[in-house]
Amino acid sequence: MMSTAAVALAAAAASTATTASAQSVSLVPPMTQNTANPLSAILSPAYAGMGIEPTSLYPFTGTTERNNLTYTLLTNLQKYTGVPPHIRVGGNAGDTMLYNASSSGYTIHQNAYPSGSGQPNPSDLLYFGPSYFEAMDNFPEGTPITYGLNLAYQGSGWLDGIVAQANASLNGVQNVNIVGFEIGNEPDLYGQNQFRTDGSWTPTAYGNQWQQAAVAIYNNVLKAKNIGTNFFEPAATATTATSRGQPFRIANLVSTGVAAENGIYIAGWNQHDYFYYLGVSSYQLTSDHLLDLSATSSQFKEWRDQSQDAYNTGKPYYLREMGSVGPTGIQGISDTFANTLWTFHFFLYAATVQVASVQIHMTAESYASPWQPTASNSDGSQPHVRSSYYAFAAIDQIIGATCNVRVAQYSLNNIPSGYTNRLASYNTYTDGNLQTLIAINTQPAPSGSSMGTVTFTYTLPAWSGKTVYLSQLTAAGSDATQNTTWNGMSYEASGTGTMTQAGDQPQQVTVGQDGLLSVRVRDSQAVVVNLGSQIGTQNNQINTANCQKLASSTSEGNDVTVSGTVQAGSAGSSAPTFSSQPTGYNPFRNSVALNARPELVLVTLVAAGLGSLLVAFS
Ligand SMILES: *[C@@H]1O[C@H](CO)[C@@H](O)[C@H](O)[C@H]1NC(C)=O
Ligand SMILES: *[C@@H]1O[C@H](CO)[C@@H](O)[C@H](O)[C@H]1NC(C)=O
Ligand SMILES: *[C@@H]1O[C@H](CO)[C@@H](O)[C@H](O)[C@H]1NC(C)=O
Ligand SMILES: *[C@@H]1O[C@H](CO)[C@@H](O)[C@H](O)[C@H]1NC(C)=O
Repeated sequence: MMSTAAVALAAAAASTATTASAQSVSLVPPMTQNTANPLSAILSPAYAGMGIEPTSLYPFTGTTERNNLTYTLLTNLQKYTGVPPHIRVGGNAGDTMLYNASSSGYTIHQNAYPSGSGQPNPSDLLYFGPSYFEAMDNFPEGTPITYGLNLAYQGSGWLDGIVAQANASLNGVQNVNIVGFEIGNEPDLYGQNQFRTDGSWTPTAYGNQWQQAAVAIYNNVLKAKNIGTNFFEPAATATTATSRGQPFRIANLVSTGVAAENGIYIAGWNQHDYFYYLGVSSYQLTSDHLLDLSATSSQFKEWRDQSQDAYNTGKPYYLREMGSVGPTGIQGISDTFANTLWTFHFFLYAATVQVASVQIHMTAESYASPWQPTASNSDGSQPHVRSSYYAFAAIDQIIGATCNVRVAQYSLNNIPSGYTNRLASYNTYTDGNLQTLIAINTQPAPSGSSMGTVTFTYTLPAWSGKTVYLSQLTAAGSDATQNTTWNGMSYEASGTGTMTQAGDQPQQVTVGQDGLLSVRVRDSQAVVVNLGSQIGTQNNQINTANCQKLASSTSEGNDVTVSGTVQAGSAGSSAPTFSSQPTGYNPFRNSVALNARPELVLVTLVAAGLGSLLVAFS
């Protein structure tokens, strides 16, 4: 396990030789989840997923021959958690595509005489046939899919059309698992997209049409297939609509048709957001700003509030369209390790604000897609893995297959100067007990620059004398587009997406009798410390009982209690009230008495054989 190569990990015993610029931060992680706050729900094995714009499906899946890069990359992740990532097939293009049973072949056809509303793209611009769903079947077996249906089209026969589309999708897939429908994409933008132009488009009008579609699909399609009513994900506010008074907030939607019969048609709320959107955000994005962690939490405030409202309705909150930069990414930011660190941090952060699943949105021509599925028309590159894919690998190895892992955010105090909003700490709990420490340093550090290091000094009396394994998410710098490694693995070196060993191998460290553990994290790097084994090697055995329990709770396979800080028996297990008022319990509590904290004894860490690692730092 010991690497002779330069690594950015070391223990405090060796740190006497560190330079004057060495910085450190002290942490006392709660040993059990009971005092950890904020704490996520149990993480779904499909939590870290992807969204695919419906017109980009074929490039990602392949057609008669599957796209093996896509297949291999998704299968890698399935090996870590037991379930492939949750895929959403949906987006704006979905509201311009009609299902046509007579259309054959793997082509999305342009309608010669579109008559539907919508500018610049009419709601019947394109049509496709049954082969579309055969292509979807190219994803790994059991892939959970949310599929978006066209609600924008309101021409004659629209209701029969949406029912036929739903029916064809469920009939058309054998290998994958469509677990829910999204009816309409970002309906709050239907006015702007001129899908609805008469001025009467309100949340109430949306709710009525949504209900009409959901009830018809249930009665004519789902019932005969013994599928329950709660199969639909109503769309909440799109990020770009936040300046318009947020009429599609959950607090308003609960009084519309989407909440018909006390919400029996709702699987969960379908939220979209981006950190930054080209042509909409009013500033020029830089990697430096992307890596300012306070920017993400302030941008996400609106969605944190929505997540709490979702919790109050007793339904999960799914972030089905997300990314640092929409819609196509920015070259030099989205395809770099800066975006990998952002994505990794965001998965952890979103879980702790009670987001139940995150889909990073992909198109066939986007620097934001974690891989390029076919030869790119934009830059001529061949299919390849992008750096951000490693964020998925890292989070999925952390989640593992036990179906009983929660993540908690740990608030850092006394952040060293120059590192404000650049450091983050998360801990995971397996079966309630501290298992993994995650230290993130987002200080921008271009390849070849002189890089600083921050030492995270943990006080862990209960771990004294125990063995921990330190794994890195790293690259040459925040600007690196190639050769990221996670946990000593590469997904690029093979050329096929299969994993090979590469880069700095995990380090084995014995926590000293004093219970102190110091972990050095280079600028633009994350380090994951796992108790007892290298992360991803022991927790990948599927715990069938836990996983079945989780899968039965919602279609997503995630914890129905929504909030990790409250157990079933509170709002989660009772019928949704569809009250938008807080119900008393606040999953975002911010004061927790740490009176269970054991007495801390601060002594020096004894770390086996790490002295030689220090040469890595200058
Ligand atoms: C993809 O992989 C399968 C199974 O390994 C193989 O049969 C097929 O030829 C591959 N397709 C391509 C396009 O390489
Ligand atoms: C449906 O597909 C058939 C076969 O391609 C085509 O002739 C027909 O025009 C399509 N119908 C619509 C409404 O687009
Ligand atoms: C759904 O598809 C099945 C199989 O093709 C068909 O028998 C049934 O009539 C369809 N139902 C509707 C409502 O389209
Ligand atoms: C990435 O690694 C490959 C294989 O070791 C190497 O050929 C390539 O030059 C590296 N790229 C960069 C930018 O370092």
